[in-house]
Amino acid sequence: MIPTLNPRIRDWRGRRVWIVGASSGIGAALATDLASRGAKLALSARREAQLLEVAGPVAGTDACLVLALDVQDPDAVRRATDTIVSHWGGLDVVFWVAGTYHPMGAQDLDPHAARGILRTNLEGLINGLAAIVPVLTRQRSGAIAIVGSVAGYHGLPRSLAYGASKAALINLAESLHLELRPKGIGVHLISPGFVATPLTERNPFPMPAIVTTQVAADEILAGMARGEFETHFPRRFSRSIKLLRWLPYRWSFSLIRRVTGQHAPGGPGAATAPEGAPMTVGDETLAEMGARAAPAAGAPVGRETTAEPPAAAEPPAAAAPAAAAAPADDAAGGPRPSRPRRQGTRRKK
Ligand SMILES: NC(=O)c1ccc[n+]([C@@H]2O[C@H](COP(=O)([O-])OP(=O)(O)OC[C@H]3O[C@@H](n4cnc5c(N)ncnc54)[C@H](OP(=O)(O)O)[C@@H]3O)[C@@H](O)[C@H]2O)c1
Repeated sequence: MIPTLNPRIRDWRGRRVWIVGASSGIGAALATDLASRGAKLALSARREAQLLEVAGPVAGTDACLVLALDVQDPDAVRRATDTIVSHWGGLDVVFWVAGTYHPMGAQDLDPHAARGILRTNLEGLINGLAAIVPVLTRQRSGAIAIVGSVAGYHGLPRSLAYGASKAALINLAESLHLELRPKGIGVHLISPGFVATPLTERNPFPMPAIVTTQVAADEILAGMARGEFETHFPRRFSRSIKLLRWLPYRWSFSLIRRVTGQHAPGGPGAATAPEGAPMTVGDETLAEMGARAAPAAGAPVGRETTAEPPAAAEPPAAAAPAAAAAPADDAAGGPRPSRPRRQGTRRKK
């Protein structure tokens, strides 16, 4: 049997779990789900009133600590870590969910807002790691689950700061896994597609394959039960975005431009790059477009290719075989970002 990339976490009874970003959305759903599975919870975010609401009657007891904080404040994060460790004597799993999103493009780049996104999404996690890693390292046990996004897989229009922050989280989670797994610590990367939360409710376009927060929580916990490094969902959607990382830039840029309308200023679909990006043109999903643009099964897929993206009239070829072929570095553009890795234990749904 192939070993899993992380220890499987199936039984949550009595586990000491800290959820940072628990006041709404995915983090709140995780809190409710884990409470019903018997975990001890510490809940953090800036809005204490919402945290108390999520915690319900057990708020403030040993079963549910409520620790309001701003992840941008390293001292506050360290104080909360100390409080948890002094209450519970240790920490088993940390879900780092806190994040923020504003659409931003090259034309309306707002350095202040961009810094705010990076400070919350990236620096916030770094503040967390600085406090948490020493605790887990001392214990030689525990796990950190980092919520990234499929928006981190590839650059997307109007996703300037958010996409960059999530791409950084993917890279950071990979580095952490390489370093911490040999020390007995699990590192999980969670890559959601669209989830119906306050973060996405202002999106003015239909979000393909959007799931509820309950589905998101189920997917995350199922991935951890499988011992995966990365859990991405919903698979039909997230796989198609992941495919972009495997395609030569010539094709991925072309696909994204067509899907988002960025090839023609003001054209259909323009300015709709969202949390996770818009992935339909008419009735066609990115996956279907990817299948059309992907080379025939067995054809080489490499950054060095000079082939134009196939014309729309070309017969569809399977996207999966294209994704399975190993891409080479782009001779002109340098090496690609790290490629998605196959999970030894990944199961098809
Ligand atoms: N919804 C989606 O479609 C989607 C897709 C991919 C990835 N994600 C990621 O999933 C995570 C959760 O987002 P969500 O969709 O559930 O949205 P959400 O309901 O807005 O949740 C965001 C959480 O982060 C907390 N937070 C934000 N800034 C913070 C700060 N400076 N300090 C402490 N906590 C902070 C918020 O609490 P306070 O405001 O109370 O501080 C809230 O609990 C984010 O990292 C997001 O990027 C979401």
